[in-house]
Amino acid sequence: MDDAELDVLLRNERYPRSAGYSARWMVDGGMGPNPVWQAEALTDFMRLEPGMRVLDMGCGTALSSIFLAKEFGVEVWATDLWVKPDENLRRVAEAQVEDQVHPIHAEAHALPFAEDFFDALISPAWWRRHWEKTGLVTVEVADRLPDGWRDWLQWNEACDHANGTPAQEEAQMLHTDNGQSLGLTRLTAHRNT
Ligand SMILES: C[S@@+](CC[C@H](N)C(=O)[O-])C[C@H]1O[C@@H](n2cnc3c(N)ncnc32)[C@H](O)[C@@H]1O
Repeated sequence: MDDAELDVLLRNERYPRSAGYSARWMVDGGMGPNPVWQAEALTDFMRLEPGMRVLDMGCGTALSSIFLAKEFGVEVWATDLWVKPDENLRRVAEAQVEDQVHPIHAEAHALPFAEDFFDALISPAWWRRHWEKTGLVTVEVADRLPDGWRDWLQWNEACDHANGTPAQEEAQMLHTDNGQSLGLTRLTAHRNT
């Protein structure tokens, strides 16, 4: 499959900013249902302004970090455990945002950042339970994207086509579930003072 065909497979009107990025770049780097789409969905509610300091916790291959830096002019600390920072730095350099995206290798329970350093934090849904339990934050939005499971399925099918593989278990699971239990979620919160 050539890159133009893959662009068509990943066309989705819900994510107009993401449409400016190569589908091949997203498919090759994505570790879950398109992190660039998910970052864009969050920014429907999160107000990001140029120069803000953002922690992208569990950024994986830093696609979301690069997207946020390019689209919103923020400075991002792309923090991850499994993906090495030198690999992410290469991707950041290719995207020409070296002055805005800083790859960091760190464990979420031992972060090397000063208290109050960040203006905003983006991450996996794992944090939701923990945020609510602490009482330290007020959750502003915690929703499922309407029909978000279809976007996830679209992403999976595009990845399968791109890789030349038959439908994988995840796509079959999404078809079977038909939006009953699985989908894409969003959470934004601010710190209680
Ligand atoms: C499923 S991947 C998602 C990556 C990226 N957000 C995406 O959607 O493509 C989860 C990421 O969380 C990171 N991670 C998991 N546990 C972590 C921890 N305790 N500290 C830091 N990062 C962690 C992993 O390194 C991995 O890259």
